[in-house]
Amino acid sequence: MATAYPITDHYYDVVVVGAGGAGLRATFGMAEKGLKTACITKVFPTRSHTVAAQGGISAALGNMGEDDWRYHMYDTVKGSDWLGDQDAIEYMCREAIPAIIELEHYGVPFSRTAEGKIYQRAFGGMTTRYGEGRAYRTCAAADRTGHAILHTLYQQSLKHQAEFFVEYFALDLIMDDEGVCRGVLAWNLDDGTIHRFRAHQTVLATGGYGRAYFSCTSAHTSTGDGGGMALRAGLPLQDMEFVQFHPTGVYGAGCLITEGVRGEGGYLTNAKGERFMERYAPSAKDLASRDVVSRSMTIEIREGRGVGEHADHIHLHLEHLDPAIIHERLPGIAETAKIFAGVDVTKEPIPVLPTVHYNMGGIPTNYKAEVVAPHGDDPDRVVPGLMAIGEAACVSVHGANRLGSNSLLDLVVFGRAAAIRAAEIVTPGAPHKDLPASSVDHALERLDRHRNAKGEVRVAHLRLEMQKVMQNNCAVFRTGEVLEEGVELMRKAWEKRPFIGVSDRSLIWNSDLVEALELDNLMYQAVATITSAANRQESRGAHAREDFPERDDETWMKHTVVWVKPDGDVALDYRPVHMNTLTNEVQAFPPKARVY
Ligand code: FUM
Repeated sequence: MATAYPITDHYYDVVVVGAGGAGLRATFGMAEKGLKTACITKVFPTRSHTVAAQGGISAALGNMGEDDWRYHMYDTVKGSDWLGDQDAIEYMCREAIPAIIELEHYGVPFSRTAEGKIYQRAFGGMTTRYGEGRAYRTCAAADRTGHAILHTLYQQSLKHQAEFFVEYFALDLIMDDEGVCRGVLAWNLDDGTIHRFRAHQTVLATGGYGRAYFSCTSAHTSTGDGGGMALRAGLPLQDMEFVQFHPTGVYGAGCLITEGVRGEGGYLTNAKGERFMERYAPSAKDLASRDVVSRSMTIEIREGRGVGEHADHIHLHLEHLDPAIIHERLPGIAETAKIFAGVDVTKEPIPVLPTVHYNMGGIPTNYKAEVVAPHGDDPDRVVPGLMAIGEAACVSVHGANRLGSNSLLDLVVFGRAAAIRAAEIVTPGAPHKDLPASSVDHALERLDRHRNAKGEVRVAHLRLEMQKVMQNNCAVFRTGEVLEEGVELMRKAWEKRPFIGVSDRSLIWNSDLVEALELDNLMYQAVATITSAANRQESRGAHAREDFPERDDETWMKHTVVWVKPDGDVALDYRPVHMNTLTNEVQAFPPKARVY
């Protein structure tokens, strides 16, 4: 196989796969610490999906009122419906403050208060004094915060001489016989060459797999390539049943309308013009956490109070806001609403619908960004040589439901943590162990099989089949019956994989082949998601089972870990939730019923 595909070898101390917010923060942090660092990315760095993040990044800076990282920690634990690991949450909320100040110093053009401080807006589930008041915690650069952060991180990466391999598609991890990750194999889309990247730490920062669903806010490139590689390497994923629906995707188009709209005073209404969130969450109202708002909207529509000709969506109002505020703080969504819904937000409401937005599940890691996989009696065993960060990972700081603006934070804090950890455990310039020539055979065989696939099944058709199953059978509300049907339908879709056809056999800009490989990654994670969802017999966070409406801490306060084998068979196991804190500066928050 290696002779059919000549390989170019590269040797680095660390290799980061993915150039979104997490990947770039890790890349420049590692380069800054003197490690020879490569970043491989399938799209140009500033086109990564982080560029689409709108509303902001949370940190208890207290610029717009009182705040404390412990309040932030409490909100995040509560938002996670007590499935988040409290050591990791403590780390994230505490480190948020220096991490954001660093971003400011690196040059992120945050919006400003009249005194020149970073502007902070309200977001769902963010409170002061452990639920008593409303926190203004989400640091914003208008409604283009991801754009601002991504460009700054890319500039920093270039400043620190990280080496970029742009438009390289990562194919598979290189694992040795002892289960140590030794690097990654990648395909240069531009000239068709194959590259073996050797590294002492390989960092998966490949983003989420939102495109497993039909309607999502994610970029078309969000195909969970890291999760696919991890599963094929025999590693498990964690908490895949928890898929976040953002309440306000544009009806029919799926594009995101930031929660920042509601943070600035926007609100939702049904067909009767009622502000229905007052009924579901009397205290937090439109700024309840996303799982609560998405469920409430779905109930309104189901019970016949949706708006529009088909009574199938909800209205989001900003027309009562001062147009100057919209112009200054929400210019991006005004443009999006005009283009995708034909709406002038200063005059009319935006038609919106809960839309898949984020995967809480992913590659399990500890708070140092090291990948873990349960082994024997050790649920937290580190996989040597492998790290994961950002949406690709499950640290787990979001547990069963992520709070808005904790995602950009997760990227930055754990990208930074990966750099700190790599500097501790990697000696710059250390030699690489020899690898057998066969170490990349499985990856090349997979590439070759897809490239020469001559079957009747079109990639686009199979992708649509998977997306429809996930959309219909693994939605906001779930039942055992519908999920089991979905498991069966996904099994049927899986069985079509050997019969796909790829018509372009070249290796240069072969988007047909890229889509086939991406679909493979998506299908692994779709199977993992729907099977984990069918297995979890309780309601928690974003996983709302109508047949098991209560949260069941006694049986289910545990992380699901899931393996998907090459034949599509699934194995499930569990890891305990970390209920301990890292320091004695805060006590763990014991589980309690959620009140909104
Ligand atoms: O609504 C938003 O701006 C999205 C933010 C997030 O997902 O964190």
